[in-house]
Amino acid sequence: MTDRERTTGRFITVEGGEGAGKSTQIRRLAAWLGGQGIETVTTREPGGTPGAEAIRALLVTGEPDRWDSTTEALLIAAARRDHAVKVIRPALARGVWVLCDRFADSTLAYQGYAGGLPADGLIALYRFAVGDLTPDLTVVLDLPAAEGLRRAGARAGAQSAAESRFEERTLRFHETVREGFLDIARREPARCDIVDGAAPVDTVARQIAAAVGKKLLSDG
Ligand code: TMP
Repeated sequence: MTDRERTTGRFITVEGGEGAGKSTQIRRLAAWLGGQGIETVTTREPGGTPGAEAIRALLVTGEPDRWDSTTEALLIAAARRDHAVKVIRPALARGVWVLCDRFADSTLAYQGYAGGLPADGLIALYRFAVGDLTPDLTVVLDLPAAEGLRRAGARAGAQSAAESRFEERTLRFHETVREGFLDIARREPARCDIVDGAAPVDTVARQIAAAVGKKLLSDG
């Protein structure tokens, strides 16, 4: 089947550490796809539905040791199921493209590589919660952890200050998150594209648009 004959939307996830520029780039990508006549829904994890946003508030606030990695993974799985059932799958079924700020690779990177949980357990939990949903394309915005934390810390607004539970982890934790994302991308090159998050915003946006064009807009 060629892309033009597809009736379902495409599922694009943008991943990366703190302060990598994911939300800016998702807005840019939505605008670019809109210019190509493609309808999009932009959403985020943890979150994307009222219930999942309530779980997000539990996850991203409070002391760093409020939850251990296993409890985090369970909370995230519950939020992800609600999001997949109520937003992602229905949009894809309507032919709408879904652009998601973080998804399952964040669980592998944060709770797995950096949090110490085994990947096979996290993948089994994902399958139980969500089933066979896999992104068509994952963009990994890569940035040195120290630079990302600096950017995230400089972000204005009370919300990011309140949502700092993960940002307060050690630099070593965030470096391991970065290595985790890079490892995932190297293991799954057909799904994942690594983009240099340290480049100027316009350059990053062009590279992401090029990756989307190459992987998802050709008539192949
Ligand atoms: P955000 O601020 O980039 O939206 O993400 C909120 C935090 O949630 C971020 O510090 C990473 C964390 N997180 C996980 O630890 N595991 C996950 O699966 C997801 C989606 C996010």
